[in-house]
Amino acid sequence: MVLNFAHRGSLTEAPENTLPAFQKAIDHGAKAIELDVQLSKDNRLVVSHDHKFTRFNKDVTGLIKDYTLAEIKQIDVGSTFGEAYSGTSLPALEEVLTICPKNIRLNIEIKNIPVIYEGIEQILLDTLTAYNRTQNVIISSFDHVALQTVQTINPSVDLGMLFYYRMLYPWDYAATSGLNIRSLHPNQVYVDQTFVQECKRRGFEIYPFTVNHFERYKELVSFGVDGVFSNEPRVFGSSS
Ligand code: G3P
Ligand code: CA
Repeated sequence: MVLNFAHRGSLTEAPENTLPAFQKAIDHGAKAIELDVQLSKDNRLVVSHDHKFTRFNKDVTGLIKDYTLAEIKQIDVGSTFGEAYSGTSLPALEEVLTICPKNIRLNIEIKNIPVIYEGIEQILLDTLTAYNRTQNVIISSFDHVALQTVQTINPSVDLGMLFYYRMLYPWDYAATSGLNIRSLHPNQVYVDQTFVQECKRRGFEIYPFTVNHFERYKELVSFGVDGVFSNEPRVFGSSS
């Protein structure tokens, strides 16, 4: 079984991490979706990769944490993608949970870099509980202390450990971290057959990011990965 995640929704077809992007991924038949969460001024989970708006709206210079959710819902992040998406705003996590069927596996990445959001782990788990969505979810982060906090609050949620740079023996680090890590999520650029074998030998699932070329995807599958994160509909629509 290979499970591929639509990375920030279908970001080549609609503004990333927005409801239209998630809907497009669902329409492609994605069985898994990745998204990122930040925290607003009023402690609401906002789905966004960046901690600021300028990549999508140059006029908004503040950070996500400087605005309330109500204010964020008034900020256009769609026009730079195309006029058809003018007026599209960043969604609250609740909006995404509402449109994503429960049979779609969600990878929710806590974005604590470079802003540390105090309490985001508790807010995330409270939100997932309120939406009866603590199952079929992976919570991931490059910030492994955030994963530790998640585990302390709810030891049964699946955790995914992200690695951006190469590391010596990341599988040993994960195995001795004290965390119940289900899956390792390395940058795909350095994943080879040995890397996959070492992860599997220690019982971890492995999902490299971000795999957009179909030939590289097939190579990683031949190494034995459990799936990938991808911007490419041909990949994330092709779980088997
Ligand atoms: O979770 C995989 C991937 O999304 C991590 O990198 O920068 O796209 O959030 P980034
Ligand atoms: Ca991400």
